[in-house]
Amino acid sequence: MADESTELPKVITIDGPSGSGKGTLAARLAVHYGYNLLDSGALYRLLGLKAEQQGLFVDGSFRDSIVPTTQLVNLALHLDIQFVPNQDQQLVVLLDGNDVTQTIRTEQAGSLASQVAVIPEVRVALLQRQHDFAVLPGLVADGRDMGTVVFTDAPAKIYLTASAVARAERRVNQLRNMAIDANMSDILSDIEARDRRDTERAVAPLKPADDALFVDSSSKGIEEVFAELVSYIDSRIQ
Ligand code: DC
Repeated sequence: MADESTELPKVITIDGPSGSGKGTLAARLAVHYGYNLLDSGALYRLLGLKAEQQGLFVDGSFRDSIVPTTQLVNLALHLDIQFVPNQDQQLVVLLDGNDVTQTIRTEQAGSLASQVAVIPEVRVALLQRQHDFAVLPGLVADGRDMGTVVFTDAPAKIYLTASAVARAERRVNQLRNMAIDANMSDILSDIEARDRRDTERAVAPLKPADDALFVDSSSKGIEEVFAELVSYIDSRIQ
């Protein structure tokens, strides 16, 4: 029997572009294995929001176009955040005790997040916080650099992607289901621009870890992908 005092949390990393289905799959895998869940994108979104509240952004860009690295690192190190499950087992996100679950999902928060996420010092400042999510029995870590930078020793690494067109179609359907008017070609060009930013940035660019399972979900349903991931993870983690 494993000695509990030396047992380490098992980490499953899921990286990939937005719209690949990794958020949904990460949440389902966390429930399936009874593991903790890290939505690392939410950390960058929370930091972006906090920086805006502190006046570091003006009209969505850094004030006077000067990157306030020292202030951002300080905010990152002291961010007061909590992820609390509600009655429906959905995670409520609190920043300084206030519910920002919806606010961090806006396009605006996404844009602030992407501006803080390119700063190397900010990424380093968020490392320990991300490591703190790895508690027994294990963690499912969802992001862009979970397998390549943050949890390089993870026994199970997944890179989940889908073509830009497939991801744009999913987004259009999602928006139309929420009765929000959506234009396919605008959404497709947004996705392509974001992919370029994510893959071409100098620090922690989006790319599969050498030892990751590469899954293209373009023509697969969520159940099929879920089954494929569970079978891979079961073969990697006892
Ligand atoms: O996955 P998301 O849309 O919530 O991510 C928000 C932003 O944070 C996006 O610009 C990518 C960035 N991000 C990152 O740089 N590294 C991560 N591990 C997760 C997200």
